[in-house]
Amino acid sequence: MKSQAFKAMMVRSEKDRPVSREIIRRSIDDLPSGDVVIQVHFSSLNYKDALSASGNRGVTRKYPHTPGIDAAGIVMDSTHAGFLPGEPVLVTGYDLGMNTAGGFGQYIRVPADWIVKLPERLSLKESMVYGTAGFTASLCVFKLTVTHGLKPEDGEILVTGASGGVGSLAVSILAKLGYSVTAASGKPEMHEFLTGLGARSIVSREDIQDDTDSPLLKARWAGVVDTVGGVFLATALKSTQQRAAVTACGNVASPLLNTTVFPFILRGITLYGIDSASTPMELRKAIWEKIASVWKIDGLDRLSHEISLESLDAYINRMLQGKQTGRVVVNLQTGSK
Ligand SMILES: NC(=O)c1ccc[n+]([C@@H]2O[C@H](COP(=O)([O-])OP(=O)(O)OC[C@H]3O[C@@H](n4cnc5c(N)ncnc54)[C@H](OP(=O)(O)O)[C@@H]3O)[C@@H](O)[C@H]2O)c1
Repeated sequence: MKSQAFKAMMVRSEKDRPVSREIIRRSIDDLPSGDVVIQVHFSSLNYKDALSASGNRGVTRKYPHTPGIDAAGIVMDSTHAGFLPGEPVLVTGYDLGMNTAGGFGQYIRVPADWIVKLPERLSLKESMVYGTAGFTASLCVFKLTVTHGLKPEDGEILVTGASGGVGSLAVSILAKLGYSVTAASGKPEMHEFLTGLGARSIVSREDIQDDTDSPLLKARWAGVVDTVGGVFLATALKSTQQRAAVTACGNVASPLLNTTVFPFILRGITLYGIDSASTPMELRKAIWEKIASVWKIDGLDRLSHEISLESLDAYINRMLQGKQTGRVVVNLQTGSK
């Protein structure tokens, strides 16, 4: 493919200097080697992107770097027989946006085995309303309802960080499937939004935060989707019903988990870890098919906000401050040339 200049966010993080982010022009020749070049139409903002864009070396080892762990677009060039120019595709996770130039640029080049063909009933934009956040929420739902066999009649499911990307999509999918969802949120102004997504009841962060040494609390939840970690995950483990299950995917509150064995040995609960980035391809495809069909949420638009690459900077800061609500979809084909 003829080399072409395109715009991308470039994050610079150098010793003794504040992290900087700017929109620059770069060349397809500068992208890492790979089987398939994709013209990115949409990306989305995830918490990991905010970390990469702020110089977090746990996510991105080397700068300058273009973040963006999600990308949906059209194959432009391919040396792999499985993908042909013109095909709509999506990529989430693996190393995209971490140490491989990511979806906050108009082109990416990736190995063929990272790519999922866009499911038929999903548009490129819709796939990025889900993005890694929606894929992760879906993995949590899969673990609770398919792997663990949780049924709607088993009781309430708690979702923490409910107004965020993973949380709001988990609330929506579970409600769509007929589960009774309790949404936990630190934002009183988002109660109406969460009820609109299908939450049956809403609790504050304080309601689900236990700072005592009690090994067990009243068994409230038939299942939990925890997106925040720390004391909230520890409290959820103490408050989960006999033989029920908890999924852990996030650490916005804290990566630490101070717990005891009692929820496990007295109530027989299961804690499922969620690692969306390295989900095996067969399961990955099966989850995307569910997202596009039986789990597809009505009114996806109210969950997301579309922005250009040029306005992304402010949203990254907002996310780092824990103020983000719903999903931010980045349109790579608008804004300045
Ligand atoms: N394991 C995986 O594969 C995987 C994949 C995707 C994301 N994640 C992780 O999942 C987490 C959520 O990601 P996201 O994209 O949904 O982020 P997000 O959009 O920023 O949402 C996080 C939400 O957590 C709540 N929150 C923020 N700060 C908090 C604090 N100090 N204490 C308690 N709650 C707090 C807020 O919701 P409320 O105000 O409503 O409480 C916020 O909207 C992140 O840690 C992310 O890295 C993991």
